[in-house]
Amino acid sequence: MNYRHIYHAGNFAEVCKHNILILLLDFLTKKETPFCYIETHAGKGNYDLSSLEAKKSKEYQDGIKLLLKSHTLSTVLQNYLNKILSFNDTTPKHPILRHYPGSPLLAQTFLRPQDKAILMELHHEDIIELKRLFARNKQVGVHHIDGYQGIKAFLPPQEKRGIIFLDPPFEAKTEFSQLIESIKLINLRWSQGMVAIWYPIKARRDIDWFHRQLQQSGIKKILMAELCILPDDIAVRLNGSGMIIINPPWQLDERLTELLNDLSPILAKKNPQKPTIKWLVTE
Ligand SMILES: C[S@@+](CC[C@H](N)C(=O)[O-])C[C@H]1O[C@@H](n2cnc3c(N)ncnc32)[C@H](O)[C@@H]1O
Repeated sequence: MNYRHIYHAGNFAEVCKHNILILLLDFLTKKETPFCYIETHAGKGNYDLSSLEAKKSKEYQDGIKLLLKSHTLSTVLQNYLNKILSFNDTTPKHPILRHYPGSPLLAQTFLRPQDKAILMELHHEDIIELKRLFARNKQVGVHHIDGYQGIKAFLPPQEKRGIIFLDPPFEAKTEFSQLIESIKLINLRWSQGMVAIWYPIKARRDIDWFHRQLQQSGIKKILMAELCILPDDIAVRLNGSGMIIINPPWQLDERLTELLNDLSPILAKKNPQKPTIKWLVTE
């Protein structure tokens, strides 16, 4: 495993991904009944944007930094930015952005006393930091395990309601096919659970294959949302990112349209692209 997420923390794709995740978590808190948050590829949980790695890639400058500079954020985007800034020593007049919280920390902010989280991470260094981060939190279980294997170990959760989030590194060429196998397994074990899968948009033919496989899987209610910041005609660069949501909450498609329409002019300033929100499979 060569992938190190610190190079990408807070980039444009993370901003899209985490905003969508926040929408989904917000929906889950609308009912009093407990929910379980499960993440197969959790990362280390918190990223220092002043580290050598983040400074070297500078990716966050085309992501979270653009939101920080914007003076016209929608309420949803301002709430997201405030959440990110709440992990920093900052004041409204002097926003300082040094720490970018990963998905586990963001998810934790939505847990109520009755809820639970199960986090999995395979990297031997990241898992140490992730365990340290949640050491005193009894609601959050952190596991050093291959996330794809973890699906067999942890599904279905006791709570019955909840979400499983898959955010693999896409280092291996087989990642899309591995995801398809895992999605089918998740559906067998926890058909009522919400499933979110993030993916990078590089070569369009890979994405088309992935979507076709989902459409032929027999699984119902599959929504996809994509935002590109560059035309998707060069396979070796990250042109955009997408999220698949299975069993989405009611009216999520409308909320996603608003969200990505707000994000597009900020993140894709030089190259405005229209977001795509589409049902791959309906009821
Ligand atoms: C894209 S990052 C996750 C970022 C995190 N979800 C977030 O949004 O903050 C992918 C993570 O998966 C880990 N990883 C790679 N292969 C894995 C596997 N088979 N099982 C679990 N974790 C894995 C990597 O070490 C990396 O930390």
